[in-house]
Amino acid sequence: MPKIFIDGKEYDAKPKQTIIQIADGINCGGVEQTDIPRFCYHPALSVAGNCRMCLVEVGTPKIDPATKQPVLDEQQNPVIAWMPKPMTACSTEISDGMHVRTHHTSQMVKEAQKGVLEFILINHPLDCPTCDQAGECPLQQTTYKYGPEGSRYEFEKVHKPKREAWGKKITFDAERCINCTRCVRFYDEYTKTHELEIVQRGWNNYPNPAEPEHLDENPYAMNVIDICPVGALTSTDHRFKARVWEMSATDTISVNDARCSNIQLWVRDNKVMRITARYNPLVNGYFIADDDRLNFRWINENRASGASIKEYDKPEKTDWKSAIAYAANRIKRYKPEEVFVVASAKSSLEAIYLTKKLAFDVIGAPSLDFIEHFKGEDDNLLIRADKTPNRLGCRLLGIEPKDNGAGVQDLAEGILIGAIKCVICIEDDIEKILSLDTLLKLDALIVLPYHNSDATATADVVLPAATFAELIGSYVNFDGVVQLARPAKALKHQNRELMKEMALSRLDKHGTQFDKWHTDENKVDAKPSWEILVDLARELGADWTYQSSREIFSEIAKTVPAFAGLDYKKLGKHGAKLETVQGGNAVTA
Ligand code: SF4
Ligand code: SF4
Ligand code: FES
Repeated sequence: MPKIFIDGKEYDAKPKQTIIQIADGINCGGVEQTDIPRFCYHPALSVAGNCRMCLVEVGTPKIDPATKQPVLDEQQNPVIAWMPKPMTACSTEISDGMHVRTHHTSQMVKEAQKGVLEFILINHPLDCPTCDQAGECPLQQTTYKYGPEGSRYEFEKVHKPKREAWGKKITFDAERCINCTRCVRFYDEYTKTHELEIVQRGWNNYPNPAEPEHLDENPYAMNVIDICPVGALTSTDHRFKARVWEMSATDTISVNDARCSNIQLWVRDNKVMRITARYNPLVNGYFIADDDRLNFRWINENRASGASIKEYDKPEKTDWKSAIAYAANRIKRYKPEEVFVVASAKSSLEAIYLTKKLAFDVIGAPSLDFIEHFKGEDDNLLIRADKTPNRLGCRLLGIEPKDNGAGVQDLAEGILIGAIKCVICIEDDIEKILSLDTLLKLDALIVLPYHNSDATATADVVLPAATFAELIGSYVNFDGVVQLARPAKALKHQNRELMKEMALSRLDKHGTQFDKWHTDENKVDAKPSWEILVDLARELGADWTYQSSREIFSEIAKTVPAFAGLDYKKLGKHGAKLETVQGGNAVTA
């Protein structure tokens, strides 16, 4: 195995690797990483080598032409022949015995990188105070760390198109662009849709879509916003809505479809402001679908808040304890076979597990099923037709349509009218399968919804449920990767500063007392379903003592073979692949 030396430290390498890959710690024997600044290099794209920011000094052992052996110095170390000029670390392949000096040890590299930045900034508008990228801008950070202290350029800067709409999703500012071509390469190599090319020449050049509206049809178009190393590409939806340091960023997963792509949820004052991609080699690599990114308003808007019961003809708000007691009394009126429990593939594994226990062990209801949500088709990148995050979780926990008494299809087709008197629906839209007429014919409807709807207006008991953005819970994606969703938004009864899973914004952490201006306006009065189910089961006479979703997960790991040996710690930030699930939807548990 070849060895190379970066700033004197020895690294294992593989043939054909580049210096930047070794410095980033890829397959190099666990030696600590070395930071090499870069703009155009992206590990998921081909190497362009155009920004020249990753310059390093490179040397190789001097070989004696006569003996073909390395020349040794007095201490018997190989003599290194250094290249006269710096090389780009992103495009230079390693060779055995290569020595590399980065800006940490080379004055020449420091000066060269300073010069590169001075050139990049000549025509850069430097409008950081109004730029959306400020606070997370590689150009800003790199200039701060490695750049010149001021500009010597005294002439008018080149002006280029500003605020160009690239379709409805992306807004482009050509003056901020540094022509790294990451966006061009993304559309050429990842989506292979080739929407962009670099137009003009010299310092007038910038990327341009021939037909901007075509980007609206590209379901991955917005990834270029994440990978653009400056504020040239911004999300039209998020532009000017919030500064980076005002928002907390929580590492979690998307529940938009069965892929469960890894995301960061950016929250300000308990409102989700935007979603960005998070790297997970097991699930989605570096990118996410635009639907994962844009489909977040449902977390903020039209939320069911506060428990309510309908004793007469209108729902009335009440406290949680009374609502749970009322729900339990209604359930007790019916024979077990008259109760239908609708679980949800949108729920966490912990909630699904307790739903099944409640149905079978506590109520004794034989009818338990979940609603499937399919739309479109799987594509060959990330998008899945199954629009639920935990369908495989439902199946691994033994909830299979038709296996358990009557199925939701029978309910939807009206076959069960009269036989089923009470429906309990957890975290799903019962009105998607039952018409308002049918809902009104039920004796009792108990719902744990996210949103206000016809069903909540009709229901006898409404116990609002927390979404994935407000709880910690596990989800099994279509490929059998179990991952954790983490809370990004606080619920009414929670104080985010006391919750250790909750991320804080930079202002939360470092701001003064006066920067902490959060209100309670956006806090929803809801609870994670597992908490509601525990209270309901206890009210129905069960001796459940679960205190946390972590405790429920350990019980799942002990009782369901597919999850044996797992715990929240093992799931970590990237999840764990179930060995019993082999590719696609196949389940062998
Ligand atoms: Fe400042 Fe970066 Fe925006 Fe340029 S792209 S104006 S450096 S924040
Ligand atoms: Fe690079 Fe951004 Fe310019 Fe595209 S718009 S070339 S990603 S700087
Ligand atoms: Fe190497 Fe741009 S990162 S040349």
